[in-house]
Amino acid sequence: MNTSELQQEIRRLCVERNALLLAHNYQRDEIQEIADITGDSLGLSMEAARTDKDVIVFCGVHFMAESAAILAPDKTVLLPRLDAGCPMADMVTAEGLRELKAQHPDATVVTYVNSSAAVKAESDICCTSSNAVNVARSLDAKKLLLVPDRNLGRYIARHVPEKECICWEGYCPTHDRLTVADIERARAEHPDALFMAHPECTPEVLALADHICSTSGMYAFARSSEARKFIVGTEMGILYRLRKENPDKEFILPSKALICPNMKLTSLEDVLRALQTMQPVVTVDAEIRQKAKTALDRMLAVPRD
Ligand code: 13P
Ligand code: SF4
Repeated sequence: MNTSELQQEIRRLCVERNALLLAHNYQRDEIQEIADITGDSLGLSMEAARTDKDVIVFCGVHFMAESAAILAPDKTVLLPRLDAGCPMADMVTAEGLRELKAQHPDATVVTYVNSSAAVKAESDICCTSSNAVNVARSLDAKKLLLVPDRNLGRYIARHVPEKECICWEGYCPTHDRLTVADIERARAEHPDALFMAHPECTPEVLALADHICSTSGMYAFARSSEARKFIVGTEMGILYRLRKENPDKEFILPSKALICPNMKLTSLEDVLRALQTMQPVVTVDAEIRQKAKTALDRMLAVPRD
């Protein structure tokens, strides 16, 4: 089957299976093209919880499908590629986090949604890149353990100087690869462009940003800004919708290294196979699910930036 036949067959099967097709903002263009909803990881999981469909096909990485399973336990959550993981989420385990908590019993654990369900279950509250600072500010605690992204952790710490912040040493290999030299080169070539950066970038890169935000925040900023040109400091998959929604504006990727191999694993063939076989299904153990849900629910009670 060619691309368009695959896309048509997937859409047909979505109707037959009563399935909702979700695609993260970093997925391949041909998948974003046919998704019911594209969005950031938490936004998509909330859509999974809201829908009246029976099946969720989650085109993203494993922790995202787990979040959908946590928030929508009555639905069948399919992850077309079970091997699509997140290296940053894998940099912390529940056991490792328990050890750190034992060293800092007075600290509140704030865990980025880019983490496994088991790690969320060990946490007091979750955060996303769009609400991290508000979450940290909402807490009475004087001491925070920020898990697992050291870059997001340092970004939070800068905004809550009144709190002691201990950052887990995890990072996103894709965002961490973006360098100051990449931004300086892009700026020299496009002096009229604004630089928007995801908080998973290093502090040195973030220091150069005109606007720091989540992937969803980038769509909003590109839409509302008067600027015509933007240097985009996040995974290249975001360009698809940025360009589609803003045909009169220019988006520049400052580095060819801004590609997440895990996000690009899922192909149309994988999505089709998942709908045909109703596999692989992602589930979360009931006890872990309940604890992880508590951490997510606490976060959902805090307003987004
Ligand atoms: P958001 O879409 O939540 O900003 O996440 C970025 C990311 O790296 C997801 O893997
Ligand atoms: Fe994980 Fe980074 Fe890939 Fe997102 S872009 S899935 S944080 S490795």
